[in-house]
Amino acid sequence: MAELTEPDAIRDQVREKYAAAARAAAAGAVAPSSCCGPTEVPLTDASGTQVFGDALYGAAEAAGAANAVGASLGCGVPTAVADLHEGETVLDLGSGAGADVLISARRVGTTGRVIGLDMTDEMLELARANAAAAGVANAEFVKGHIEDIPLPEASVDVVISNCVINLSGDKAAVLREVARVLRPGGRFAVSDVIADPSMDEATRADMAQWTGCIAGALTREEFEGMLGAAGLVDVEIRETHRVHEHAAAAIVRARRPAADGGCCAPAAHKDCCEPDAKSDCCGEPAAGAVTASCGCRAA
Ligand SMILES: C[S@@+](CC[C@H](N)C(=O)[O-])C[C@H]1O[C@@H](n2cnc3c(N)ncnc32)[C@H](O)[C@@H]1O
Repeated sequence: MAELTEPDAIRDQVREKYAAAARAAAAGAVAPSSCCGPTEVPLTDASGTQVFGDALYGAAEAAGAANAVGASLGCGVPTAVADLHEGETVLDLGSGAGADVLISARRVGTTGRVIGLDMTDEMLELARANAAAAGVANAEFVKGHIEDIPLPEASVDVVISNCVINLSGDKAAVLREVARVLRPGGRFAVSDVIADPSMDEATRADMAQWTGCIAGALTREEFEGMLGAAGLVDVEIRETHRVHEHAAAAIVRARRPAADGGCCAPAAHKDCCEPDAKSDCCGEPAAGAVTASCGCRAA
């Protein structure tokens, strides 16, 4: 069994699991697994209530994206809290079958753009087929890792995600990447699983549970700390429903500070040392700002 400290081994196991889920969905299986998989954690909780997948979406949200919503493996509806506007650029981390991408594409309209990022070929193929069936033209699906997002800095207005960050073996890297690709003032609005502080070590350490998402989840305190360390502010974590004896689904929101009075957010400093780069990645410096060795500061 792979050690939890081996992000590549974790990713391989996660990829295998979701490739199988995508194949099952493409073959028409009904709700092949939850975010947490049919064996490790079922779609339903102990009382039989569905806590993952399509049951979380209202009919209005699902309209026009029925196939993708039907194959959802998420633990919430991030588009319900992302407050998307016409013309915005949205990035969905771990886009799966594409439900949240297609819903976002409708919200941002033809002047906006939505990018779904996923590492699993089978999921990308399924999502592209769902987008084509829904007639959505302002969405694209890109292959890559959420720990190393293949997009330029300050290139998206909103980052959404649905039950994916908990799967990563390097969550601090994911959140640093979020801060890097967000424009100043950009928003982070995700659904994810948060672990109770009381989650026991045996559950946390079990690889099968990890690929099923529960054991990999951060606690509220850990999530807040990592978001802050990445340079994101206005952090809000709101539990939506229980998904496990030791974990809950939650909405997690934060934002990248706006233009920082002419300075780069801490997460962007290393990529932002030249005055030319600064206006790209920090926006226009504030009036009276002067350039410093790295980042710019108000005079
Ligand atoms: C639990 S499913 C959620 C899919 C989708 N967000 C939804 O709500 O239905 C996790 C998805 O994230 C992708 N994924 C997991 N870890 C990833 C990583 N490190 N980088 C990129 N994609 C990842 C998987 O391939 C899978 O499609």
